[in-house]
Amino acid sequence: MFWNRIWVALLCKTAIIAAMQSKKLYIVMVGLPARGKSTIASRLRDSLIRDSILSKVFNNGQLRRRLTGIETSQAAFYAPENREGVAIREKIALMNMEKARDFLAGRGQVAILDATNVSIKRREKISSFLSDHQLLFIECINEDKEILEANIARKICLPEFSHLNRDEAVRSFNQRIDFYKAIYRPVENEKNFIKLDSLNRRILGESLGDDIPFYDRLRDFLVTDVVKNLFLVRHGETFFNLENRIGGDSPLTQRGIEQARSLARHFRKKSIPVIFTSKKLRTIETAEPIKELQKNCTIISLEEFNEINSGICECMSYEEIRNYMPEVHSQRQKDKYYYVYPGGEGYATMKERIDRGIKKALYLSGVSQNIMIIGHRAVNRMILAHFLYRRTEDVPYTYIPQDKFYHIVATQNKKLFELRRF
Ligand code: F6P
Repeated sequence: MFWNRIWVALLCKTAIIAAMQSKKLYIVMVGLPARGKSTIASRLRDSLIRDSILSKVFNNGQLRRRLTGIETSQAAFYAPENREGVAIREKIALMNMEKARDFLAGRGQVAILDATNVSIKRREKISSFLSDHQLLFIECINEDKEILEANIARKICLPEFSHLNRDEAVRSFNQRIDFYKAIYRPVENEKNFIKLDSLNRRILGESLGDDIPFYDRLRDFLVTDVVKNLFLVRHGETFFNLENRIGGDSPLTQRGIEQARSLARHFRKKSIPVIFTSKKLRTIETAEPIKELQKNCTIISLEEFNEINSGICECMSYEEIRNYMPEVHSQRQKDKYYYVYPGGEGYATMKERIDRGIKKALYLSGVSQNIMIIGHRAVNRMILAHFLYRRTEDVPYTYIPQDKFYHIVATQNKKLFELRRF
């Protein structure tokens, strides 16, 4: 009896594993350059692999860079009328299709084709060549000008642009985008597709003609902000902090500079490829010593992370507000989250820009495992609240010290919040 049960359990387990492994899927990324396709593709692969779903990305750009010379980085190579360019790109696309097909013919379960794939002709070719398993198109859309500029600024750091100066490289990349725009057709006519706002992680449209394996899991992944390691830091002590003054643009005190240096030493052995700050001096001054001790680190200052604008109270101390504007003081005490400073902001009205800043930061950090945000007291409270549910009335009282930082992990499978000393 006992052995029978064990035997049945083993058979069931084997059957479940076999059923799981028999599910196979091609995912085809679609979108103009710099729309976040590769970041999504490689994060999706990592997340599937973590769930024991054997997945691989087949990236046309990487293959092109490996197989061809500098001439294929020039804008003219992408002109639709450049026959030679078109032929080379089609050949590379075909090579990756073959690799993807071989992968699924073996133990592979999800093959992700990462390329622009914006023309109907290309997609028809993919559909007819890869007809052995289901096919899902994921179209990434993002037209936010500022984000695109920042993303292009990152792209032109690739060695293939090293022979051009910054302006020439930007011009060349934008021209490349224009060539793709000329042949771009959205995915609406495909049988299985998801249209994704890749900045805001929102599904803009979807259609499923087939039963797509892993669909719920994929869909959930696409709308989830993936934060591998976010280090949320408050700027070091400022002269305004010493006087209990709010807002303004005060620099760090000597103690604040020491705090920044000590942060830098703490993170020296951890790679922080990108630090996001506000546009205020105190956050940038805190970031600089950290950048200095890193091998490769960029500071990106976002307006969205500026401290709460206290309107007519900017640069006043809490004591002065209490004495000269008792109405402001008492109204704010009554309902700190919803109170709005005259001529300024409140926590509630900051929410939209902070959420936007977080989306921007996550988008711009690409596949970096570790990112850092150096913000302010109210800003960091709102960032924490974005990841960790808190009742709104408690948000403006969250503890945001200057000698500790929050370590945040938020993925599909794991949520972690830890206040750590440095
Ligand atoms: O005092 C520093 C500071 O960052 C001010 O610039 C800002 O107005 C304040 O903290 C936000 O904290 P609270 O909402 O508790 O006043």
